Amino acid sequence: MIDIHTHVLPGVDDGSESMEMSLKLVETALESGTHSIIATPHCYRGVFDNYAGEELQDRWDALHHAVRRAGLPVHLYQGMEVMACEDLPDLLKNGRVWTLNSSGYFLLEFEFGEDPAWCRKIISACIAAGYIPVIAHPARYYFVQDDPGIVYDWYRLGCGIQLNKDSILGDNGRRARDTALSLLRHCVVSCVASDAHRTYWRSTDMRRCEEYLGQNFGEDYTYMLLEDNPDRILRGRKLVGYKPLPYAE
Ligand SMILES: [Fe+2]
Repeated sequence: MIDIHTHVLPGVDDGSESMEMSLKLVETALESGTHSIIATPHCYRGVFDNYAGEELQDRWDALHHAVRRAGLPVHLYQGMEVMACEDLPDLLKNGRVWTLNSSGYFLLEFEFGEDPAWCRKIISACIAAGYIPVIAHPARYYFVQDDPGIVYDWYRLGCGIQLNKDSILGDNGRRARDTALSLLRHCVVSCVASDAHRTYWRSTDMRRCEEYLGQNFGEDYTYMLLEDNPDRILRGRKLVGYKPLPYAE
């Protein structure tokens, strides 16, 4: 598996608290069958001011070296989880944001109660600027829970759609789970990731999720969500999927 959404970079956001915890998160990922991880610290103005630059690069290098020293055979890549903002297309064009492994894909999140019309405007502006948003955990957004057809629209615009394992397994509550399963049934999901923060909070363990998806959605769909599309994101290739089912008006 390839985990495209993790907060394993220590000390930069509400994710891993220490290098020791980061190594534990990587170890757990490997044990659960994940071979590649993108570290995606929050990039959220005024809250987690992580932008591309020397400081973040040094922190990423330190994690990379620690992982190597510990002999953990994981492939580690750079990324960010960017909170949507008006000037996002400029931030992307000016290289202030780490896209996912320097591809044209970047991980984008919204406030849980955001205005869907504004979301669409930001998404469209980023696409017009030449970047493809991968929308982080839409099943957790209240406006998506109220109207999951919004995700069908994003999918049709060309976005990647990333679900959190916890939403699928029910650990983010009933509404997030119902929404996640509905999005999966409507074939508007590109990939599933851990969004791991800490060893005791949303870990990197993907086993239960992989099992659940295999049993309920079949091996091919599961492979697409956990390996094929994440690999396409890493390499900047076109995402694949089944024919999406529109939501009734
Ligand atoms: Fe996240």
